[in-house]
Amino acid sequence: MRLIALLLLGLMEVSLAQDPFQWLSSLHSRGYASLQADNTGGECPEECDCPPTFPIAMYCDNRNIQKMPYIPSRMKYVYLQHNQITSVPDNAFGNATNLVWVMLHENHINSVGKQAFAKLSNLNRLYLNNNNLTEVPSNLPRSLRDLRLNHNKIGKLAPNAFEGMENLTILLLHHNSLQDIGVGLKGLKSLTLLDVSRNQLKKVPESLPEMLHQLYLDSNSIGAVPANFLNQFSNLQYVRFAHNELTNKGIPQNTFNNSGLVELDLSFNKLESIPVVSTSLQHLYLQANQIKEFTLGSFCSVVDVMNFSRLRVLRLEGNEIGAGDVPSEAALCLRLASDIAV
Ligand SMILES: *[C@@H]1O[C@H](CO)[C@@H](O)[C@H](O)[C@H]1NC(C)=O
Ligand SMILES: *[C@@H]1O[C@H](CO)[C@@H](O)[C@H](O)[C@H]1NC(C)=O
Ligand SMILES: *[C@@H]1O[C@H](CO)[C@@H](O)[C@H](O)[C@H]1NC(C)=O
Ligand SMILES: *[C@@H]1O[C@H](CO)[C@@H](O)[C@H](O)[C@H]1NC(C)=O
Ligand SMILES: *[C@@H]1O[C@H](CO)[C@@H](O)[C@H](O)[C@H]1NC(C)=O
Repeated sequence: MRLIALLLLGLMEVSLAQDPFQWLSSLHSRGYASLQADNTGGECPEECDCPPTFPIAMYCDNRNIQKMPYIPSRMKYVYLQHNQITSVPDNAFGNATNLVWVMLHENHINSVGKQAFAKLSNLNRLYLNNNNLTEVPSNLPRSLRDLRLNHNKIGKLAPNAFEGMENLTILLLHHNSLQDIGVGLKGLKSLTLLDVSRNQLKKVPESLPEMLHQLYLDSNSIGAVPANFLNQFSNLQYVRFAHNELTNKGIPQNTFNNSGLVELDLSFNKLESIPVVSTSLQHLYLQANQIKEFTLGSFCSVVDVMNFSRLRVLRLEGNEIGAGDVPSEAALCLRLASDIAV
């Protein structure tokens, strides 16, 4: 009777929470640990849950773990986030070389064995964000597709840190202490998203991968963008330079007149005039600069009035102009803009 009631209770919770693993761990935490004995999925470390319905996953998140637990070799997905792990030794993954996802974010990791990840040749997601790393771990698998290292204390990138990662698509490095990116990212031929915001970059990185689609450089100390910087990327659509030290002197005439861009964020800089942008740009953020004049020629050709701007959102508040400075011809040029804030 009691067992049936328990199962019914469980079923109710499954339908409520829509997550069998959550249900399992909630039973576990209420002391119904004996159910775990029914586990036919294989061995499982005591401090983790290995749902028999999904025996290749191991859930060890949020439980004050201080040391890497033993990881059975059948595992493909391991969730270890939000614990107090400080180190990942060389033998941490032992024979679990089939791992596809390893979630280690929100720990206190400050040391990683040089060979710790080396044998994980199928690994495609590695989340190490929000730890205490001072460098990118060595010998990361080339199979990675999504690598998150944001919110650490990484100060330098070794030139070979990402070598051979031909499928790496997402690389998050924001909130670190990088002063320079070096040349180590150049070869990442699949990289589409690079976030290096909130570092200490003084200039735009020189060699970045060509397939980038999103490039986030906000909250650094960048003062200039070379004329052809954006033209080296054929797929770039979203660019963020907010909270830097850009001045008009540091931006040659056609730097941002790049027809592929959809969104450009130049807010919180030191611009005194509106840079020329392409007629195909849709979102332009210029708030909190020192712009003194609304120059329609920055958006549209004065000669060819038919070539109107595709801009939809234009943010200009916190500058030295007011609504009265927007010329009446703007209605024709910026005819698609539904959100102009001055
Ligand atoms: C790994 O596999 C080898 C060979 O099958 C075995 O001898 C060894 O004990 C295993 N190590 C662990 C940590 O399971
Ligand atoms: C990070 O590492 C430093 C030593 O490198 C240590 O002093 C500090 O307590 C660590 N912080 C956390 C949150 O683990
Ligand atoms: C990249 O992905 C392709 C296709 O899935 C795969 O064949 C190749 O082995 C991967 N490269 C690496 C270095 O893992
Ligand atoms: C912006 O670029 C386009 C295409 O390259 C060019 O025709 C146009 O004259 C440029 N705009 C300005 C103001 O230089
Ligand atoms: C007119 O607009 C198209 C597409 O928006 C652009 O490629 C072209 O360079 C523009 N010409 C001028 C003179 O701005």
